Amino acid sequence: MEVIIQPTYAQLVAVSAEIIRGALLKKPNLVLGLATGSTPIGLYEALARMHKTEGLDFSAVTTFNLDEYVGIPRSHPYSYHTFMETHFFNAVNIPAENRHIPQSTAVEHEEFCELYEAAIVNAGGIDIQVLGIGKDGHIGFNEPSSSLGSRTRIKTLTQGTLEANAPHFGGTVDAVPKMAITMGVGTIMEAKQCLLLANGESKAEAIAHAVEGPITAEVPASVLQMHPRTVVIIDEEAASQLKRVAYYKQVYANKQKLLSGGYYDKS
Ligand code: F6R
Repeated sequence: MEVIIQPTYAQLVAVSAEIIRGALLKKPNLVLGLATGSTPIGLYEALARMHKTEGLDFSAVTTFNLDEYVGIPRSHPYSYHTFMETHFFNAVNIPAENRHIPQSTAVEHEEFCELYEAAIVNAGGIDIQVLGIGKDGHIGFNEPSSSLGSRTRIKTLTQGTLEANAPHFGGTVDAVPKMAITMGVGTIMEAKQCLLLANGESKAEAIAHAVEGPITAEVPASVLQMHPRTVVIIDEEAASQLKRVAYYKQVYANKQKLLSGGYYDKS
């Protein structure tokens, strides 16, 4: 796991946006896996700015969102469909037919989940999966105890997740949808690269468990330790419970030096 610690959220956003920009310039038909929630909002804003100011082109990009609540219409102000329109899709040129978000109102959920998995495969697989992390270590809506091999399916949300999301539903837990369709942990693990973003002290414990704890279904994000290309990009606060902060910073500094040619004898 590569752990990149940045002083602030703004710098964390800049590093992650640069990774996606670089990948997109190399592969215009990039397949992006996307997350919702507060964490990636700055990343989407940064990518939208790159589109507007330097013409970063998303016209051949395909996207797959991680999850969507079950039982609310797409037009609901707090559906993930609405979230993506508001925070990203309205500001870039990804063709509508290339954007995929689990369909919360599908009656044939099982069939829908299989089709969603098949669509990812048909697109050539996800090149970069953007992930946030729940305070309990969830990724997507794969709550603790989710199978580490799980595929896209319906999950029941934990009380903690319902409480975390209550502010979006008028402040009452009762109003929060109790289930969601989510890519599985196994689905996420098939992405060629994962970018796990986290900021703030409230994520410090989850990050410490995910990065330095044992691999366990109790902390679904910990399975990313088995992923060959996961980059964890966090601010100092989210890094505050990690044991190896100095080492991660040294690794990153060395990598930058290596990439800029600083290690080579130029004589
Ligand atoms: C949402 C998702 C969730 C969030 C996580 C963190 O699509 O996949 O796993 O990433 O709940 O949410 P925030 O960023 O709001 O703290």
